[in-house]
Amino acid sequence: MKAPRELWTSRVAFILAAAGSAVGLGNIWRFSYVVGTNGGAAFVIVYLIIIALIGYPMMVTEVTLGRKTHKNAIGAFKALAPNTPWWLVGALGVLAGFVILSFYSVVAGWSLSYFFKTIGGSLGAGADFEGAFVSHISAAWAPVIWHAVFMAITLAIIAAGVVKGISRTVRVLMPVLFVLLILLVLRSLTLPGAGAGLSFYLQPDFSDLTAQSILAAVGQAFFTLSLGMGCMITYGSYLSDNDDVPDNSAWVVGLDTLIAIIAGFAIFPAVFALGFDPAAGAGLAFITLPAVFAEMPAGVLFGAVFFLLLSIAALTSAISLLEVVVAWLVDEYQMARKKAALMIGVLIFLLGIPASLSMGAVDISVGGMPFFDFLDFFQESILLPLGGLLTAVFAGHVWTARTTRESANTNHGKIVIGAWYEVLIKYIVPIAIAIVMIFGLIEALG
Ligand code: PHE
Repeated sequence: MKAPRELWTSRVAFILAAAGSAVGLGNIWRFSYVVGTNGGAAFVIVYLIIIALIGYPMMVTEVTLGRKTHKNAIGAFKALAPNTPWWLVGALGVLAGFVILSFYSVVAGWSLSYFFKTIGGSLGAGADFEGAFVSHISAAWAPVIWHAVFMAITLAIIAAGVVKGISRTVRVLMPVLFVLLILLVLRSLTLPGAGAGLSFYLQPDFSDLTAQSILAAVGQAFFTLSLGMGCMITYGSYLSDNDDVPDNSAWVVGLDTLIAIIAGFAIFPAVFALGFDPAAGAGLAFITLPAVFAEMPAGVLFGAVFFLLLSIAALTSAISLLEVVVAWLVDEYQMARKKAALMIGVLIFLLGIPASLSMGAVDISVGGMPFFDFLDFFQESILLPLGGLLTAVFAGHVWTARTTRESANTNHGKIVIGAWYEVLIKYIVPIAIAIVMIFGLIEALG
């Protein structure tokens, strides 16, 4: 006899958990650095179009597949298309869970340690913010230890079960994070010289766009919405059959997008006002934001609270990444949840070590990039877009667009998914992703 599967305790619990998964380092750390290295406003516009045309339909699709089957990423495909190779799409998702969480946890570790650095006062006015960041990530031990601490917390929560751990944390966290971001925006916008940052962020120059940057926008859209890897299938699987899909999905997509856009207003005006380089790469948020805090009254307090919240936002995303793998082992192999969490957590921790070391301590590169950058490139350019493409083909042509749409509309709230969904999921989404992937990869690898 198996214990019955857990269910979210309420509609709000699902929205909070799914939004907790979506809102994370992707919205602040990754969004700002990807926008910064891809030229700014034009990239943001492409990104928003992709969120609307691909992100929302994919969110509806994945949550529907989960609610319909009440199964993990692999099990959902097996349930709807037994004895076919479609389960491999779920397997790709499980692989993505490994890859993403290994470097994600390293960045979350940076955030945790920045919490303590801020309290310690070493990031006050006049500090060398860029130098501090570079020396922090290129150290051998400290980032690996913070990565271990973060993975240990993630693992402990997943071992305890999804529902209890996740809902409670997110309910408190999200509103506070939101308020802090707004404060940051106000300070950033009022710095002398902020205007140049605003035009970088808001005035598009479409000649900046390359095939590779459009692929990066697709990858970022999937990453930030936790799509293309079975995460929302897994979270959807804890919905009851009576729960709504279209409205819930809209909430998650809307909240996630809002927070990323606001984060951009906190970061880019400050980047230009304080003389940083928007294309600085993975350090942008960690270099710029401490500098903005240093310009604020009670900056130490705000800065510390911010990095604590960022770490918690990262935690609610990390939980969902680990849950994809753990739910698979629990559902398909009846493995005990605690054992699965421990085993996978340790493996991911190990994969994260070379990622962390490759930031400067040791020369570990793959395909000419530091191992960390390689993992991020691999998930952004291949794993998530490919996972999303295949999920769309599955929903649109195998389970069929009509069935998926009807299933999504079962017990719907305000939003009803119209016929447009069928056109998008059958043709537009897969074809657009395929084209972007082909040209983007040719350019990136060529
Ligand atoms: N969406 C999370 C973020 O933006 C990261 C994530 C990706 C979580 C994929 C789950 C699955 O930080």
